[in-house]
Amino acid sequence: SKKPVRVAVTGAAGQIGYALLFRIASGEMLGKDQPVILQLLEIPDEKAQKALKGVIMELEDCAFPLLAGVIPTGDPLVAFKDADYALLVGARPRGPGMERADLLAANAQIFTAQGKALDQVASRKVKVLVVGNPANTNAYIAMKSAPSLPRKNFTAMLRLDHNRAASQIAAKTGTAVGDIEKLTVWGNHSPTMYADYRFATVGGKSVKDLINDQVWNADTFLPTVGKRGAAIIEARGLSSAASAANAAIDHMRDWALGSNGKWVTMGIPSDGQYGIPKDVIFGFPVTTENGEYKLVEGLEIDKFSQERIDKTLKELQDEQAGVAHLL
Ligand code: NAI
Repeated sequence: SKKPVRVAVTGAAGQIGYALLFRIASGEMLGKDQPVILQLLEIPDEKAQKALKGVIMELEDCAFPLLAGVIPTGDPLVAFKDADYALLVGARPRGPGMERADLLAANAQIFTAQGKALDQVASRKVKVLVVGNPANTNAYIAMKSAPSLPRKNFTAMLRLDHNRAASQIAAKTGTAVGDIEKLTVWGNHSPTMYADYRFATVGGKSVKDLINDQVWNADTFLPTVGKRGAAIIEARGLSSAASAANAAIDHMRDWALGSNGKWVTMGIPSDGQYGIPKDVIFGFPVTTENGEYKLVEGLEIDKFSQERIDKTLKELQDEQAGVAHLL
């Protein structure tokens, strides 16, 4: 049987952690033949560590055959030691009276420390997914704080936006969500993201032609996908957790095991393609194979799309400028 791999998860006692860890341990992320050791980071605070112990008791009670070990810790150097995968879920949420700049600064501190720890102790091949918001900028900070690791190892989660978009399109066209291909979401994981179905197909037919309604695109589809997170908070009284965990599983599974030619959306450091400056962590269409992602290049960007891409890029650049002095 295969040698266990080490999967670090931060914010492990949080909502997303609770929806995520059991699926990783059951083999849904890395395959039903891949044993895993979970290395779980929570803040050193007594209450958080106690909650983490409770989650671990439940992991034990699942008797997952693939779960080869669990290491709870409050120290990033322990959590990331030899990690093959790192899911950075824990982040500082916006508290009452907190300004956007305070939020950026609090997270800059967390992701600088975690980037440095990854740099020091993780596998040189570690695949990092940042889920904690602001996800793209947090991934950028971690990447910049880990100069000895390849830039390409750092990604941010746009997959929830991608899955939300796919689901809206399936409902609109009366098709099966699994048949939708060549969809992507450009930019920031925020309401400015640009979900783009111009290239998408379903059962070989053009989604754009099937929908044939630019007003629906601009006035219904994009706001629905962009504000879906807020709509879920409004309905549930809590932010999306199961769907976020599901998207994290999808992102990592496709990165590790391949997307079989299918386009998926990942937030990845730009190399300058599509006019996105180098190092900006931007949602792009990619295909994945042999543990590597590959950007889908050469897509035509029309005027409407360019405006949307410019807007989400501007927001990311403002966030980057907001943390530049902290790096
Ligand atoms: P939560 O508040 O339930 O859990 C977060 C956990 O992280 C808490 O247990 C907290 O103690 C822990 N934590 C905070 N700072 C930490 C640190 N420095 N090291 C380790 N652990 C730390 O939040 P939830 O619902 O699990 O969400 C987590 C993050 O994911 C939030 O930032 C949220 O905005 C983000 N998110 C991102 C999505 C995306 O699509 N990229 C979608 C949904 C949520």
